[in-house]
Amino acid sequence: MALHFNPMDPEFLADPYPMYHRLRTEDPVHHSPLGFWVLTRYEDVVSVLRDPRFAKEAIAAFVAARFGMAPPGLGLSMLDRDPPDHTRLRGLVSKAFTPRVVEVLRPHIQQIVDRLLAQVQDRHAMDLIEQFAYPLPVIVICEMLGVPVADHERFKGWGLDIARGLDTIMLPPDSEVGKRSIAARRALSEYFRGLIAERRRAPRNDLLSGLIAAEEAGDKLNEEELLATCILLLVAGHETTVNLIGNGTLALLRNPGELRRLRENPGLIGSAVEELLRYDGPVQRTARIPSEDVTIGDRTINKGEMVMPFIGAADRDPAQFPDPDRLDLGRTDNRHIAFGWGIHFCLGAPLARVEGQIAINTLVQRLPRLALATDRPEHRESLTLRGLKALPVTF
Ligand code: HEM
Repeated sequence: MALHFNPMDPEFLADPYPMYHRLRTEDPVHHSPLGFWVLTRYEDVVSVLRDPRFAKEAIAAFVAARFGMAPPGLGLSMLDRDPPDHTRLRGLVSKAFTPRVVEVLRPHIQQIVDRLLAQVQDRHAMDLIEQFAYPLPVIVICEMLGVPVADHERFKGWGLDIARGLDTIMLPPDSEVGKRSIAARRALSEYFRGLIAERRRAPRNDLLSGLIAAEEAGDKLNEEELLATCILLLVAGHETTVNLIGNGTLALLRNPGELRRLRENPGLIGSAVEELLRYDGPVQRTARIPSEDVTIGDRTINKGEMVMPFIGAADRDPAQFPDPDRLDLGRTDNRHIAFGWGIHFCLGAPLARVEGQIAINTLVQRLPRLALATDRPEHRESLTLRGLKALPVTF
């Protein structure tokens, strides 16, 4: 059968890994008729992510050219910038997310997890996404930023639309997804403008007040960058970790031997979470645009073309991970790239790891009869962020 990569194919959404293997074997530097390059080998993905020629700032212009306009705020956060602006913006918030700072939060994160489980304990059933995996990271990032947790019903839908907007470059120019993400960015910007005005009047001990102080100090960041940073942290903080917990729990329930192994050996949780991130990671791909022509293997990628390094495919490359489709919670030498690589390596990784470890270990230890309540959990339509719409379980 001829190789036909269609990222919108429902079968691909349900399980992208067979297609990744085909691409990697048959056409590892694939030029898609959809107008971008697809990289699936671990070595190629890592080398692009650490190569300064493969940059980010050209992406906003690429999107603008294709869609007539770019979503407001797109292109202003650290995630979309190259040095030196990337370095400046990342430096402003990096201290809040170091492993040491995050370790201090451990007991508090455990308390939140305990509270969420207490709310469902007597019912012996829940939607693990809605009632557990989603609220945890939302509560944590809201508390850190200084956003009232109670407002989350308002920005839940916007967060989803903005996250889905990451797919825009893979979709036809007339897709509704792009328009919805623009509207959601506008709405979330307005929300933050209000909150920023409040914090300006009465600063608190939170990240938002810290960023406002940096903005007021002058040359460190402007108001549009302040808004873009808030939106990035809020959305990254609650559209990704939910999927680590959801995809991770599903993988364990489908591999009962590994689930038992973790239950009998809770000290394995550190390496277990790394393996779950490798095996079915929340972020499947990213994007870069080269600033000059670059040859990879026997293909030449021209300056200005869109390149998509597929993290999800790299993390299943047999050249890097022996027996890559096997879930092995004790896997050694697991240099997965679920958090990316290079200068944009996930700023929230220490936080996501601690949240994932506490959430998954608590579920496994406290709910000995945890079981799937559906044969076919449905995935979200997203092509960039991989996660479940719902995960009904009993316990
Ligand atoms: C399991 C959960 C998470 C995964 C798998 C994940 C994955 C990633 C990946 C792959 C990147 C790099 C994207 C690229 O190179 O284009 C990234 C960047 C980033 N992530 Fe995460 N992330 C997670 C959780 C979080 C959390 C909880 C936060 C913070 C609150 C966060 C904040 C960020 C930020 C700010 C960046 C941009 C860093 C930069 O451009 O220098 N992430 N993340």
